[in-house]
Amino acid sequence: MSRTVLIGSQWGDEGKGKIIDVLTAKMDWVVRYQGGNNAGHTVEVGDQKYVLHLTPSGILREGCKCVIGNGLVVDLVGLMDELVDLVKRGVSIGNRLFISDRAHIVLQYHKELDGAKEGSRDEAEKIGTTKRGIGPAYCDKADRSGLRLGDILEDDFLDRVAAQAKAKNEILVSMGAEPLEIEPFLAEVKEAADYLRPFICDTVPLLHQAVQNDEEILFEGAQGVMLDIDFGTYPYVTSSNTGAGGAPSGSGIPPNAIDRVVGIVKAYTTRVGEGPFPTELHDEMGAHIAKVGHEFGATTGRPRRCGWFDGVVARYSAMVGGIDEWALMKLDVLDAVETIKVCVAYECDGERLETVPASIRKLERCKPIYEEFKGWNTPTTECTCWEDLPEQAQKYIQYLEKLTGVKVSILSVGPKRSSTLLLDR
Ligand code: GDP
Ligand code: IMO
Ligand code: MG
Repeated sequence: MSRTVLIGSQWGDEGKGKIIDVLTAKMDWVVRYQGGNNAGHTVEVGDQKYVLHLTPSGILREGCKCVIGNGLVVDLVGLMDELVDLVKRGVSIGNRLFISDRAHIVLQYHKELDGAKEGSRDEAEKIGTTKRGIGPAYCDKADRSGLRLGDILEDDFLDRVAAQAKAKNEILVSMGAEPLEIEPFLAEVKEAADYLRPFICDTVPLLHQAVQNDEEILFEGAQGVMLDIDFGTYPYVTSSNTGAGGAPSGSGIPPNAIDRVVGIVKAYTTRVGEGPFPTELHDEMGAHIAKVGHEFGATTGRPRRCGWFDGVVARYSAMVGGIDEWALMKLDVLDAVETIKVCVAYECDGERLETVPASIRKLERCKPIYEEFKGWNTPTTECTCWEDLPEQAQKYIQYLEKLTGVKVSILSVGPKRSSTLLLDR
């Protein structure tokens, strides 16, 4: 039995939702452990497309139980709306969804503060957040003033929300933003709290029991290692530990219970929001990848910036993430590209760099050093095994493996479940 952590290894949107869904065919549990509804994980099942923001992607498999772990910041109204929508679409959630009483709450004032803070930053300093209140909610957590899901179960919950809202209103006004109207805000919070109450519990013993019973657990990372608050391109990051290290602290499962880490990477790179991106393409090739890959944010709809595969980033993610194997995604998007480039190192201030520097200024000065590959010019979406792949595609995959020191065990050549190759070479 395995406890597997699945993490994004670039700047998010690698295709985590799809692979979680593929792997959950055999899983007993799927656990989200960090982030909030800044995430947008797409799963295509038959002709149905789901975009999950807070609900673990395992919810789409009847036999799978799902946990929203303590490491998340949960938008109460956002989660209620998401669940109502899933139920409307025929997904059962009763006795299958468990929300940690230790997870933190995101309310409207966090979102207003997120927007006001972004608005107050100079153009060059903007992070390009999703405006989902993620940063302000994690600020409250670290400040020890945050409200948690378990607080909903106490009689004074709405009084505490009202007190917080008044304090946040003062901050909003001082920033030149509109204050919240307290009464309608409280009514909305009450409705969401009432809806979510039956799902709230202590998820720690639940997961420990699952480990004791030797059940299969999949940890669903959100965002990607380059957006990690410690290891990412700080300050252009999100506010949580997106790597495998976040799984124990965000779920209560100890590190020694985890035995496999799968890193999700695209066959190229994308980024949404601001911040350095050494292999970014500003030309027709970037536009081609964006068009063929439908690279628009699943949460905000913003166009994603596109560029070549960055081997420095992938190697670094593999190192800090302890990645055992890759799920290589969206290979099909490169099907019609004549010449494919891969960044093997950076050149910075006359020096060759093999890893991602901590200094954002230095990273901004990094120029990618590329190797070039002849493309395969053949559709790959119908391929079902390694032997089906064009020789040039095989060579590209083998090159990425050599460059990063990590084998590709899963290959994705289309958004559907069926366009997935489990490579056993
Ligand atoms: P996540 O946040 O990591 O779950 O990724 P997103 O759902 O935000 O973005 C990935 C997008 O790529 C989604 O629209 C998926 O349906 C799509 N997708 C996933 N795998 C593949 C693939 O192998 N090929 C193509 N063409 N699309 C894919
Ligand atoms: P999934 O799980 C891509 C980015 C935002 C912004 C930065 C900080 O779908 O891969 P935040 O709202 O978290 O304070 O924004 O992080 N970002 C993502 N980019 N995919 C995501 O999630 C993201 N979640 C946050 O665009 O640059
Ligand atoms: Mg996404």
